[in-house]
Amino acid sequence: MKVAVLGAAGGIGQALSLLLKNGLPAGSELSLYDVAPVVPGVAVDLSHIPTAVKVAGFGADDLDAALAGADIVLIPAGMPRKPGMDRADLFNVNAGIIKTLAEGIVRNCPKALVGVITNPVNGTVPIVAEVFKKAGTYEASRVFGVTTLDVIRSEAFVAELKGVDVSEVKVPVIGGHSGTTILPLLSQVEGVEFTEEEVAALTPRIQNAGTEVVNAKAGGGSATLSMGAAAARFCFSLVKGLQGEQNVVDYAYVAVENGDAAYFAHPVRLGTNGVEEILSYGELSAFEEKAKNDMLETLNKDIQEGIDFMAAQ
Ligand code: 2OP
Repeated sequence: MKVAVLGAAGGIGQALSLLLKNGLPAGSELSLYDVAPVVPGVAVDLSHIPTAVKVAGFGADDLDAALAGADIVLIPAGMPRKPGMDRADLFNVNAGIIKTLAEGIVRNCPKALVGVITNPVNGTVPIVAEVFKKAGTYEASRVFGVTTLDVIRSEAFVAELKGVDVSEVKVPVIGGHSGTTILPLLSQVEGVEFTEEEVAALTPRIQNAGTEVVNAKAGGGSATLSMGAAAARFCFSLVKGLQGEQNVVDYAYVAVENGDAAYFAHPVRLGTNGVEEILSYGELSAFEEKAKNDMLETLNKDIQEGIDFMAAQ
């Protein structure tokens, strides 16, 4: 298994790479790419951890070598949010970065499973898809927006609120990955009941949890450690699927035909081709149904921005 992390020297990239060094199956290769000159050092640093995962670092000019033959590519590269910015403010900077990296994937590992973390995920995933379409290498089943951070935050907050064992809590989260487009399905959490007031308070807390971190870091960036943990968890699901494990189900922002929007986070069954099946998210409460309908205008606008960016190239 070769996993490439693009943007490996940043806050998310380093946390993610550490978890992958410790958690990928023995014999895997971890390929760390970044434009920051510290990346070879990050690779050397990680290589001193005694696990059977080989690490190599690649600098700005070595994108092709970093990607050659990768099975999975995770992309946290890009600029993070500062206080007062929302994820959409990052679009102009990060759109160009994600396009360049996607072109590298087309050249070197067009069959890789690609997990996009770079914000705004609602718009950067369509950019990756459009780059692949332009090159004739697009397979919808291989491109993912990583929304696992919304899932793990929901698990943490529900466990905290209800005083239950966090390892037992499962919270489906659908939609996109910014503000109101993030929709936790609290009505579907097994073994826990919420009052209307709790749903009305917890839903926006989950939706704005990224901003909670941005404000707490006071100009020092956005979520890195929790995002690294989330992306690693998602990567391990992709690995299990690639290894042929049955019934690997996780949540991700994927292209959907005849769905709520062209891209929408769903539960998906993962396998050797990435998404084997997009699963239904089931029945929604009246609150969730309204929240879903209310988010669609924003989500569609975010998606269109990505498509328009590529059309203008
Ligand atoms: C967040 O939700 C970084 O998008 C990430 O905080």
